[in-house]
Amino acid sequence: MIFVAPVADLADSARHVVALRSWRNPSQHDSVLVYRRDPHPGALNAQPEFYSIANECPHLGLPLEDDGVDPRTGPVIICPFHNLDFGLDTGASSSGMRACTFALEVRNGGELWMEPPGDLGDDYRVIGIRSVSERASSSPSSCRPSQVVSLILLLPRTIVAYCRHVLVAPTPAAKVALVRRLVSLFRSGTLSRLADPLTDPPHPFEPYRAPTVKTVASGQTARLGRGGSVESRVRLLHALANIELFAIDLAVDHIGRFFDWRVASLDGREGKRIGWGFVGDFLKVAEDEAKHFTILSERLEQLGCTYGSLSVHNGLWESATQTSHSLLSRLAIVALVHEARGLDTNPTQIRRCRAAGDEETARVLEIVHADEICHVAFGHRHFTALCASQLPVPLDPVTQFRAEVRAHFFGAVRGPFNEADRARAGLGGEWYEGLSGRGSAAARKGEEKEAAARGGGKEA
Ligand code: FES
Repeated sequence: MIFVAPVADLADSARHVVALRSWRNPSQHDSVLVYRRDPHPGALNAQPEFYSIANECPHLGLPLEDDGVDPRTGPVIICPFHNLDFGLDTGASSSGMRACTFALEVRNGGELWMEPPGDLGDDYRVIGIRSVSERASSSPSSCRPSQVVSLILLLPRTIVAYCRHVLVAPTPAAKVALVRRLVSLFRSGTLSRLADPLTDPPHPFEPYRAPTVKTVASGQTARLGRGGSVESRVRLLHALANIELFAIDLAVDHIGRFFDWRVASLDGREGKRIGWGFVGDFLKVAEDEAKHFTILSERLEQLGCTYGSLSVHNGLWESATQTSHSLLSRLAIVALVHEARGLDTNPTQIRRCRAAGDEETARVLEIVHADEICHVAFGHRHFTALCASQLPVPLDPVTQFRAEVRAHFFGAVRGPFNEADRARAGLGGEWYEGLSGRGSAAARKGEEKEAAARGGGKEA
């Protein structure tokens, strides 16, 4: 059995999504739904019951987390996509299909433990937990209702068209509103058509930004400072809000650009199409990034500044452009270099804000950090799965990652590294230590070394 969480931590919602990863087989990621069913109010000495079921419908592999039944009314859930029912106790469905369920136990007077989802025993560990009913974020502060209504009236009919719509949204608030609507329609099963080549708009070249927002080259924005003054924290919050806004664009760009990527060749033309798990994971990322942008810009406003009033850089989008030809390159650079770098820097920023007495900003950054571990884990999951599905011979994911960085990233992959959180997301030191990007002497030396190792049969 593996430890999930203190029971008291699961009291905020009847439904939680638990993200897990195998430690010995880092490409093995799972998502499990844990339900709490409270006893009848009149029952004496009764305790809540817990159920768990794989967050993947056995019909088409779509997420079950927005099921159609309140679990407090009975241990049955209904998949929102095609209405198949699944008993939470056995996973059985009247359709004859069966979803995986996992035994749960309350131990030590208040700890929830779970049977691990794979056949690797207790090697699994929990890397993130979120309540399904969690507050996505506050209302966007600068989006007029009429703006949102007119956008919704024009809404597209496929997930890919929706993603492209998000990219060209006229304001950050409209972008956030569109992402929330897209995710809600997808999760409820109302929007399940992936793409329609006849009616989907072409993929935009870049996300829309209002001309009033001054964009400069990366490295030319004002220095952030050490967070000791309000001005320094304002610069930090503004820079992070900018990163989160581009992170929304990147998540929907992954889907809108790569939804038809075939998994068995490096050029994405052979094998089966990348699955619904990819779409579901990156919609979740887009939803989280929209939440992050909102809470960061709200905090910014509390400190007297609005998003867009300082200059910003578009370094993340430059990386998106440089990796637009390949899903492997995209995941390597965006998820496993840029997002992983956030895991390194966030704890320092949180500490500095707290040391300056700004508990509110520290708490906002903590919310962001907890979600980013799962985002890196998603990138790791799909990168390693793509490597494993290459034909005729699977690729070694670490070797491939390092080659992608040398080809498509500029400069060194810099530490100091947050080894613990990187490891939770799947990245051991062999992925990133001593790694440099394109054009550097270190990159050339690394290529020679790894080519020699491959020639000597040391790597798959
Ligand atoms: S019933 Fe769940 S995906 Fe079809």
